[in-house]
Amino acid sequence: MTAECDLVVVGSGVAGLSAATEAARHGLRVVVVTKDAPDEGSTRWAQGGIAVVLGDIAGDTVEAHVADTLAAGGGLVDEAATRGILGGGRAAVEALRTDGARFDVHGARLARTREGGHGTTRVIHAGGDATGAEVERALLAALPGDITVLAGHTAVAVRRDPRVTGLDVVDDAGVPGHVAAPAVLLATGGIGALYETTTNPAVATADGWALALRAGASLADVEFVQFHPTALAVPGLVGRAPLVTEALRGEGAHLLDLAGRGVMDDVDPRGDLAPRDVVAGAITAVLARTGTDHVLLDATGVPDVARRFPTVAASCAAIGVDLAREPIPVRPAQHYACGGIVTDTRGRTGVPGLWAAGEVARTGLHGANRLASNSLLEGLVVGRRAGADVVAALAGPRPVAAPTGPVPTSAPAADRAVLQRAMSRHASVGRDAAGLAAASDAIESTTAERALDSRAAVEDAALTLAAGAVLAAAGSRTESRGCHLRSDRPRRDDRWQASSVAVTLVDGRLRLGPLDDRLGEVA
Ligand code: SIN
Repeated sequence: MTAECDLVVVGSGVAGLSAATEAARHGLRVVVVTKDAPDEGSTRWAQGGIAVVLGDIAGDTVEAHVADTLAAGGGLVDEAATRGILGGGRAAVEALRTDGARFDVHGARLARTREGGHGTTRVIHAGGDATGAEVERALLAALPGDITVLAGHTAVAVRRDPRVTGLDVVDDAGVPGHVAAPAVLLATGGIGALYETTTNPAVATADGWALALRAGASLADVEFVQFHPTALAVPGLVGRAPLVTEALRGEGAHLLDLAGRGVMDDVDPRGDLAPRDVVAGAITAVLARTGTDHVLLDATGVPDVARRFPTVAASCAAIGVDLAREPIPVRPAQHYACGGIVTDTRGRTGVPGLWAAGEVARTGLHGANRLASNSLLEGLVVGRRAGADVVAALAGPRPVAAPTGPVPTSAPAADRAVLQRAMSRHASVGRDAAGLAAASDAIESTTAERALDSRAAVEDAALTLAAGAVLAAAGSRTESRGCHLRSDRPRRDDRWQASSVAVTLVDGRLRLGPLDDRLGEVA
């Protein structure tokens, strides 16, 4: 298969679809490459909602939302980027509603809920706790008909010469292909498959990080892997753990240990609505202290709970729990990559012709710990801006990207089960130098060069590179901050204040260095 277009978008979640739609509406020929069916990404699993200031809640302002984001982010949030992204939230949400998205209402305005770290109720939602599914549905329904969607295709490599010339792909039958284009936008989502249990779907295999590193772009803040405090504790589960949305706590649910004591008592004055890193850390401490594998979320006092949270109610029912009558067994699970490909707020990376948006990217909005429900908003805002930026960048005269045939490529790839076990054991909440080194050794011992000739091989190689990046960055940050909690360095160290670790790939080896925020000019 060979194709030619103006923009190839890799990924079909909120950021990718927003970018693709924006670019196509301005006349660009767009191809979307996606591994599964277009709605199989992480977006559809998002529950709680979209944190946004729409101007109709007395006393809430973009500045208050910025302040909450800065406070949650452990000193590493980029304030200017944050103000720019959050300030664009209202327009992005209104555009999505114009395109048909239906959010829950309360009287004449949109209903709101609250989540950890937010000073007020500013999170809009859809279908009770099915916000991501509605966002994905609306974006797919509004996708311009002239966009080509290549489902069942995995991105293998970004080609550049020196600017981007296209993308190599492989389909599910192992047939290689190439899409020639002067612009590639990575919107591949997260890294959940680095861990044995995650709230992410199976497609979240860090593909975008690997594509970007091999193309010469930088990652930053990758040690900040966010664990959601309350995934449903399903005995023996490996893979996607059902999320138990934080909005339940926003509506009054409480975390209890198995003896009925409040998990957050005496931990943080914000109690059950402390930011996510604090709550996940507190639960992890309880599990270690009591030798149990879950705590309880008591939502029996939440009014009309099964109707308000139908997705969670169904997940609970599947394991025989009636959330209206009994507490829900929960434990932390990997949830979100706070760091990623370094971009500005238009999605520009340092590589000419390469953009990135959504969870795969690091704009500086999340710092050391993402504030709940800021991610769908970031995907909407930066996705649209990135699409518009590609339009602007390609507006002048430009070199024709000649279609080039795929070349055989290979990369180091570890055994996935070994990697997941090592990361889960040593690079979760509570890490230390010895464990991080042990994880590297375990992964290294099963790593061999593999041809990138199938989805599985591409994913395994991406996971191997991403694990190396997380372990190296986590090992270098000799402190605890945000969701990087080290048991051997339990305190925050001011020498690390405001410093992000950047990761690059030089001659096939990962290199760490200070983040250079000056991104290359996109020609
Ligand atoms: C949740 O609903 O608890 C997750 C929301 C988020 O990750 O922002």
